[in-house]
Amino acid sequence: MKIAVIGTGYVGLVTGTCFAETGNNVTCVDIDKSKVEKLSNGQVTIYEPGLEKLFLRNQREGRLKFTTNLAEGIRDAKVIFLALPTPPGADGSADLKFILGVAEDIGKILTEYKVLVDKSTVPVGTAKKVHDTVAKNYKGDFDVVSNPEFLREGVAVEDFMKPDRVVIGTESEKARKLMGELYAPFVRQGNPVIYMDEKSAELTKYAANSFLAAKISFMNEIARLCELFGADVDMVRRGMGSDDRIGKRFLFSGIGYGGSCFPKDVQALVKSAADAKYNFKILEAVVEVNEQQKIYFIPRIKKYFSNNLSGKKIALWGLAFKPNTDDIREAPALYIIDELLKEGATVTAFDPEAMKNVKDLIGDKIKFTENQYEALPGCDALIIATEWSEFRTPDFEKMAGMMNNKVIFDGRNVFDLNQMKELGFYYESVGRKTIVP
Ligand SMILES: NC(=O)c1ccc[n+]([C@@H]2O[C@H](COP(=O)([O-])OP(=O)(O)OC[C@H]3O[C@@H](n4cnc5c(N)ncnc54)[C@H](O)[C@@H]3O)[C@@H](O)[C@H]2O)c1
Repeated sequence: MKIAVIGTGYVGLVTGTCFAETGNNVTCVDIDKSKVEKLSNGQVTIYEPGLEKLFLRNQREGRLKFTTNLAEGIRDAKVIFLALPTPPGADGSADLKFILGVAEDIGKILTEYKVLVDKSTVPVGTAKKVHDTVAKNYKGDFDVVSNPEFLREGVAVEDFMKPDRVVIGTESEKARKLMGELYAPFVRQGNPVIYMDEKSAELTKYAANSFLAAKISFMNEIARLCELFGADVDMVRRGMGSDDRIGKRFLFSGIGYGGSCFPKDVQALVKSAADAKYNFKILEAVVEVNEQQKIYFIPRIKKYFSNNLSGKKIALWGLAFKPNTDDIREAPALYIIDELLKEGATVTAFDPEAMKNVKDLIGDKIKFTENQYEALPGCDALIIATEWSEFRTPDFEKMAGMMNNKVIFDGRNVFDLNQMKELGFYYESVGRKTIVP
């Protein structure tokens, strides 16, 4: 099938590449000229494990093309995916200007039946808004489908190729058939394609992300209690998670959730609820807990250094909002850097993939190193902000020899408490005992 994907960011590029991988002819459209140029020249613009191989193969075989020209991009497409940003507006609601702007443009170009698919995360009622916007300029037949995306950055290709489920919101038989055909290769193992109305599909995505964010904030509050009671949150997590009704995943406490989705999606649902005169109390608390959690280490670090961080050299491992991505949107590390610099400390950071993005954002306010160890010489403390695998079993002796103080603040609970004790580190983590040598 010929399809178009409008917006070639994390979701659009993965969506386009994976649909090409199952034999479709895909044209990706983006307004960012330099991005389209790079992609056309075979350069993958994001870091996503497994993407480059599929991208290069499908491009080489002529199934994956890029353009800045919307009319050219959608000309032959039967299905047009909108994978556009939906950033938070000033009041927390999702800003639909990108989606509705493109819908307006598409309405002016359409000449025949096509299916427009909202893949972006959008509030309830957006499919209707997109429909009405297109219909202002195009009087023929077309459908708008809500098909929220559930991929996780870091495992996006795997998630897209083998989704737990595909949610398709449409009441049109014609659109349902086309969408079913497109997704059939991805659900051969029997994972469900769940058809529903557009509004339910739109809400499903917000409900899923908000629930996951709530799990994280819940565990972060349990971690606070563990610290007060002298319990260990890792033990509590294991004890809880082995109950099937709770599940083992997403129960890790740490320095808060970040990324381009959870923060904005939770806020957007709170706002949508408020607009409908409903006070979504749990979600308001989820947001508040996370705000505190992101900078939770700062007072603890300050306390360790007798309230004076001025001139302290802090090493930071991890900048991305989570491992296996270069995405730094709403990354807790950025909030920590901000606070440390305000207190007069200097920061030397390493991240396997996200340093370029941070450099582009904050320039030379902090130093960057080639590997994790180079961040350590002469540092007064090490902070771990992202649980990249390579941070899990470092050479502790080498570390000890390089650091000015053997002090670690671990925001992701990557090290074992007993090991820290044996090695003589001062070690603070989240919801676990502080190890004092
Ligand atoms: N990133 C994720 O993990 C993820 C997962 C599921 C859902 N989502 C949702 O998917 C949507 C897209 O997210 P993303 O992370 O891919 O965003 P992104 O910022 O990485 O990509 C958006 C792309 O759209 C392009 N764009 C903006 N205006 C355009 C226009 N008028 N025409 C063509 N292209 C235009 C931008 O240049 C950019 O390349 C959001 O609604 C997000 O909430 C994201």
